[in-house]
Amino acid sequence: MRFLLYFLHLMLLLLGAAVPSAQAWGKEGHYMVCKIAEELFSKRAKAAVLNLLPESAGGDLAAVCSWADEIRFRYRWSSPLHYVDTPGVCNFNYSRDCHNSKGIQDMCVVGAINNYTTQLLTYQHSSSGYNLTESLMFLAHFIGDIHQPLHVGFEDDEGGNTIIVHWYRRKTNLHHVWDTSIIETAMKDFYNNDVDVMLEAIKMNITDEWADGVKDWKKCREKSVTCADKYAAESITLSCDYAYKDVEQDITLGDDYFFSRIPVVEKRIAQAGVRLAQVINHVFRKRGKMENLELLSQKLHQIHLI
Ligand SMILES: *[C@@H]1O[C@H](CO)[C@@H](O)[C@H](O)[C@H]1NC(C)=O
Ligand SMILES: *[C@@H]1O[C@H](CO)[C@@H](O)[C@H](O)[C@H]1NC(C)=O
Ligand SMILES: *[C@@H]1O[C@H](CO)[C@@H](O)[C@H](O)[C@H]1NC(C)=O
Ligand SMILES: *[C@@H]1O[C@H](CO)[C@@H](O)[C@H](O)[C@H]1NC(C)=O
Repeated sequence: MRFLLYFLHLMLLLLGAAVPSAQAWGKEGHYMVCKIAEELFSKRAKAAVLNLLPESAGGDLAAVCSWADEIRFRYRWSSPLHYVDTPGVCNFNYSRDCHNSKGIQDMCVVGAINNYTTQLLTYQHSSSGYNLTESLMFLAHFIGDIHQPLHVGFEDDEGGNTIIVHWYRRKTNLHHVWDTSIIETAMKDFYNNDVDVMLEAIKMNITDEWADGVKDWKKCREKSVTCADKYAAESITLSCDYAYKDVEQDITLGDDYFFSRIPVVEKRIAQAGVRLAQVINHVFRKRGKMENLELLSQKLHQIHLI
């Protein structure tokens, strides 16, 4: 069976099914993350998201889940917000690691998730002047990115970008394998080349196989705005234990690598979706009177300062 699938996969490659390459969990990965999240939105969250989405989304957050990749080069400052690198160690430390190449603090995927979550908290109290449509599209994308293990990788190899490998016969790099190739191979081999079939399989596991674990995924005891620190710590661990493990320059990766890594990829997509919904539901939750008063007094304070 395995061999047959492999053979079919090769045939498809030989037939020249040219697949356009993309940045960061490819389009499919981000699409699935946002689709999973959307189904878990509360009523209030659904309404707020609909209100903020641009016309072009047609009411579907998943349609703009890759927007942040599309504007990455127009908004050059946003490029470092897609990832964070460590100095070659298998742990994450915010004050050591979260900065851009100029050393400016907070300019990494963890800082960005905190940033855009904070901005969205001003929804309907907004005096911030931020474009909350962009805040929402950034947040949805970055919660996806931070769950792709190699978006929390080593600085020296740029999260696997400089590690050239062959994915079966095709020359690519390790980062791209994790963004796109593993998902594409799974789609071809198991899911009829249909992202919605893959999505259904992952969703089934969320309510079934992983149901007991979901509570732990949502556990968040940080003092910071979000639990993005925790997601980053998980990703660098997975990078060391799975992504980088037994990989060297010019290696050919095939069935052994694919079959042992695909469960990690599918679970990370599920976790990202569940957590995106959790953050969005929290941001747009019904607030008590006291909280509203607090926000009001902050606002008055700001006005007073001006
Ligand atoms: C994190 O890094 C900072 C700066 O390098 C260092 O001062 C701090 O001790 C580190 N924290 C932990 C928990 O290792
Ligand atoms: C926070 O968001 C603003 C508006 O998009 C952006 O200018 C700034 O660079 C962001 N900072 C971080 C750390 O994400
Ligand atoms: C907010 O951002 C979106 C996406 O970049 C843009 O289409 C829209 O015009 C912006 N809104 C305002 C009021 O600037
Ligand atoms: C569902 O969970 C099982 C058990 O953990 C795993 O082997 C399988 O790969 C998962 N399938 C998907 C689509 O996530």
